[in-house]
Formats: sequence, structure tokens, C-alpha cells
Amino acid sequence: MDKNQQLVTDETCLSPLKTMQQMGHEQLVFCNDAETGLRAIIAVHNTVLGPALGGTRMWMYENEADAVRDVLRLSRGMTYKNAISNLALGGGKAVIIGDSRTMKSEALFRRFGQFVESLSGKYITAEDVGINPNDMVHVSKATKNVVGLPGKSGDPSPVTAYGVYMGMKACAAAQTGSDSLQHFKIAVQGVGHVGRYLVQHLAAEGATIYATDIHAETLQSVVKEFGAIAVEPQDIYKVPMDIYAPCALGATINDETLEQLTCSIIAGAANNQLVEEGKHGQMLMDRGIIYAPDFAINAGGVINCFSEVSGNSLEWSKQKTEEIYQTIAEILQRSSQLKLPSYKIANQMAEGRIQLKGSLNL
Ligand SMILES: NC(=O)c1ccc[n+]([C@@H]2O[C@H](COP(=O)([O-])OP(=O)(O)OC[C@H]3O[C@@H](n4cnc5c(N)ncnc54)[C@H](O)[C@@H]3O)[C@@H](O)[C@H]2O)c1
Repeated sequence: MDKNQQLVTDETCLSPLKTMQQMGHEQLVFCNDAETGLRAIIAVHNTVLGPALGGTRMWMYENEADAVRDVLRLSRGMTYKNAISNLALGGGKAVIIGDSRTMKSEALFRRFGQFVESLSGKYITAEDVGINPNDMVHVSKATKNVVGLPGKSGDPSPVTAYGVYMGMKACAAAQTGSDSLQHFKIAVQGVGHVGRYLVQHLAAEGATIYATDIHAETLQSVVKEFGAIAVEPQDIYKVPMDIYAPCALGATINDETLEQLTCSIIAGAANNQLVEEGKHGQMLMDRGIIYAPDFAINAGGVINCFSEVSGNSLEWSKQKTEEIYQTIAEILQRSSQLKLPSYKIANQMAEGRIQLKGSLNL
């Protein structure tokens, strides 16, 4: 079954157990604390390969169904990401419902930490959107099942960017026989934490870089420092590019953008890039566009987190992240041999690793 198929509809969110059965989740924990205002959901998708690791996202969801949808999809994505990266980790994720600018307190994060602790190590948390290392310090006062603390594995973004760079080179090699990016025109959408480090690698290799960001200052700094060519956010899909690198939001590969994109490779950091995996993955293949599956190419961050869990060094993280080159090369090779879209091959490889060790109730 396609990993991103539209299983999580509003209706199924009202019947979480049914949705969990369909998506193969093990556990969904609703956390409520009146005193601190904490409302959170922890989803453990699959623990066959190891404890479920995935970040905590703090977001002002419009309604509970949106929060359930997000945590179910994201936790399942983590199972695939950890499996394809050959890590001894399962997939999980947590969401805290609330405004990250106004609702944070030490007490709220400590209480959240107690809920994480109540899972006895089955779920390990980390930072995600809306959460910073200091928040995690508060969480760590109530549980040891937390990674990404200051002074430990640190900001995962440079490692994520390095993995994306490796995966992009593997795509170039599959297309031209050489993994040099020197003569490529590359459009980087979003030059925040990951995008900026990616631009740095690409500039060092002599690629022509078109960059965009909704924050003018962020964009100007990569123009100034790395010689990127600034593009307005709405124009990024239309620039004459060889490679599109989505590093801002998910869902940017859809009916509308596919009409505009002139690239022959898509390789970027964003999660859930394809709006509909089945439909848009097939469209990419039909158009001869090489697609590096998102959860395989952006796994550097979780590899970095795993180094903290397993006691490995940062050097180990870097070497392990380099393996993304080989993983993407293998996916693309099998995709071309079997004439199947690359996302499907990546899903099968991840599922195969889990099935080797146990069951993936899909
Ligand atoms: N940080 C990591 O290690 C990591 C790991 C895996 C996946 N990811 C994914 O990679 C992406 C980037 O992560 P990040 O940590 O760099 O986030 P970030 O918030 O630091 O950077 C994202 C940037 O995109 C810009 N942006 C947002 N919407 C935009 C739009 N419509 N057009 C152009 N720019 C836009 C933002 O202004 C911001 O500068 C996210 O989708 C994230 O989920 C990140």
C-alpha cells in the first residue's frame, strides 16, 4: 500500500483505532494536563527495529483531527526513514497542540516529559517544528528518552544538508555518469537551517544556484555569502533549472507545480514532498524526472540523533550520512531496472528491512 495514500481523512480521525489499524500504528497516546495547558498526542507507529524515534512538533492546529492526522502520518514516515537508513530504530512522533510563541513554559515541557517517560523508552523524542533545544532541556528533566540536547548531538541541519548533497550527487551520477554538480543549475526553495548548508556545499562545487525564501533577509544572506541568484518565492518553479531542491515545506510536487517544473532531477530536504505519492510519483517517472525519495535523502538528521542514542561520534554520523549516496543510487538503479517509480522502490526497501526482523502490519 502507498505510504501516503489518503488514509487519514477527517472521518477516520474521528475513529483513530480504525485509522491505526489501516496504517499499522501500535499506540496513540493522548496527553492532557489542565494545570500547564498541555494537550499533546504521541504516536508510536512501529517498534520492530527498535524504539520509536521522532521529533515533537508544536503547532496551532485548527482542530484535533488535523493534529491526529499530522502525528499519524509523521510517525509512519519516521518508521520508513529509520528503516531505509538501516538504523535500529522504529518510527514515532509527537505533537503539542498550541502556539509555540505564546504557550510554552518549563512546566508544560516537564509534564510532556512525564508522558514520554510513561512509555518506558518505547518512544524517544527530539526537536521538530516549533521546538528548540532549550524546550528539550525542560523535557529532559522528566525523562531520559530525549535527544538533541545542547552540547550533545546538536543541530541536525548540517548533517541533513550533507545527506541531501550526497543524494543529489547520486542522482547526477545516475543521469550523466558523473556525480559532479559543477555544471548544474539548481533551484533551492527555502534557505533556512538545511537549505543554507546545502547552498554552501553546492556553491563550493561551482553549481549555479537559484535560491528563494519568504524571508528577505535570509535570502539576501545566501546571495551575499554564496553568490546565489535570488528568485521570488512564486517564481521558483519556473526558473530554468536542472535540479529542484525543495527545502521549505512539504507537498510542493503537485499537479500545478509539475506543469511548471523544467528540472530533470528532484532532490531536497522537505518531508512529504509528493502530494499524492501514487499519482505524482508515477507522473515524475512518466516525465523522465529522477526523484530522490524524501525520507531516504533527508535522513541525515535522524542519523545524527541516533548517534546520541547509540553513543556514536559525530564523525560516525557523517560517515553514515555519506551512505545516503549509495542508498539513493540503489533506489534509482532498481527503479530503472524494474520500471517502477523511485518512491515505490524506497517504500519496498524500508518495508523489506522491517519484515526481515518482524511484522509490518500494513
Ligand atoms: N532540520 C533538519 O535536520 C531536517 C531533517 C529532515 C527534514 N527536514 C525538513 O526540511 C525542511 C527544511 O527544514 P529546516 O530545518 O531548514 O527548516 P527552516 O524553518 O529552518 O527553513 C525553512 C525555510 O523555508 C522558508 N520558507 C517557508 N515557506 C516558504 C515558501 N513558500 N517559499 C520559500 N521559502 C519558504 C522559511 O522562511 C525558512 O527560511 C522542512 O520541510 C523540514 O521538515 C529538516
